[in-house]
Amino acid sequence: MEPILVTGAAGGLQGATGRRVTETLRDDDHPVRAFVRADDARAAELKDLGADVIVGDLREITTVLPAVRGVRRAYFTYPVTAGMLDAAAVFAAAAHDEGLERVVAVSQLGSDPHAGTPHMRRHWVAEQALDRAGIGAVHLRAAVFFENLRVVIAHSGELALPLGSPDTVLPLIAATDVADVATGILLNPDPIEPIHWLAGEILTAAQAAEAFGVRYVDVDPDRWQQTATTLYRDPVTVEHLTNLWKLFRDIGSGHDLYQVTDSIERFTGHPPVTLHEHLAADHN
Ligand SMILES: NC(=O)c1ccc[n+]([C@@H]2O[C@H](COP(=O)([O-])OP(=O)(O)OC[C@H]3O[C@@H](n4cnc5c(N)ncnc54)[C@H](OP(=O)(O)O)[C@@H]3O)[C@@H](O)[C@H]2O)c1
Repeated sequence: MEPILVTGAAGGLQGATGRRVTETLRDDDHPVRAFVRADDARAAELKDLGADVIVGDLREITTVLPAVRGVRRAYFTYPVTAGMLDAAAVFAAAAHDEGLERVVAVSQLGSDPHAGTPHMRRHWVAEQALDRAGIGAVHLRAAVFFENLRVVIAHSGELALPLGSPDTVLPLIAATDVADVATGILLNPDPIEPIHWLAGEILTAAQAAEAFGVRYVDVDPDRWQQTATTLYRDPVTVEHLTNLWKLFRDIGSGHDLYQVTDSIERFTGHPPVTLHEHLAADHN
């Protein structure tokens, strides 16, 4: 059996989706080539799981070409930070060179050339690069990860975001559901539609805060930007989130894209994880 290449396999702070894909495939005894940035303790854990670990930089073609050798299917993820388009272009070229048949890539719900945040627009460009490589790209346009809200609450003890009214609506999803959909599509032999909108639960800011057992507090956008600069220490993340929260604030009570779609159940075999379930699982 050919290995599946999983990028982001060490798992970072945003959703650790690559980590989850690796673990699920290994649980199933499927061979995995785990692409990591550093040969650190997380890489050692992946080796213990039986993954073939390969160290490299997704922006660097000389390290991505050997990673795709002998692979037919791959999971592509790159965090919200600088270099995503470099990484997508490099991956598209390498995967085309090797003749991959399916690449499942994480994107964002509002990915569009006119989307309200620069990073969403970059995601759309990344989708185009992967599509044009002829590698069977499947894009998971995911809603806001529950984990994203956790970072804010861990920092301030409340859901302190510049969302305006407590009735502002947020499309949300567990990162584990994104990873499980990706795994389902990677293992599925059938032709699959190239774009999937993924949202697991649609909640207002007040409802999300209540699930966490905290208050929702509307924050002045300038103050949020200052806090975010300290919290994330990454200009692309600050720019993206500042624009994203503004987008939700401006849309307010809802949008056509804010719908729980059937892709989660179709490819994972279970209904979407709710925020309450996500938090309960964490306490077990
Ligand atoms: N957060 C949200 O609410 C949200 C919502 C919708 C969609 N998304 C999308 O989800 C994706 C991120 O999710 P994720 O679970 O993959 O994030 P993550 O948990 O932060 O994991 C990112 C992984 O990529 C690795 N990495 C970073 N730079 C690399 C490089 N240059 N070369 C090789 N590996 C590199 C990291 O390694 P190190 O840890 O060693 O740096 C980490 O293992 C993004 O595409 C984002 O737009 C996020």
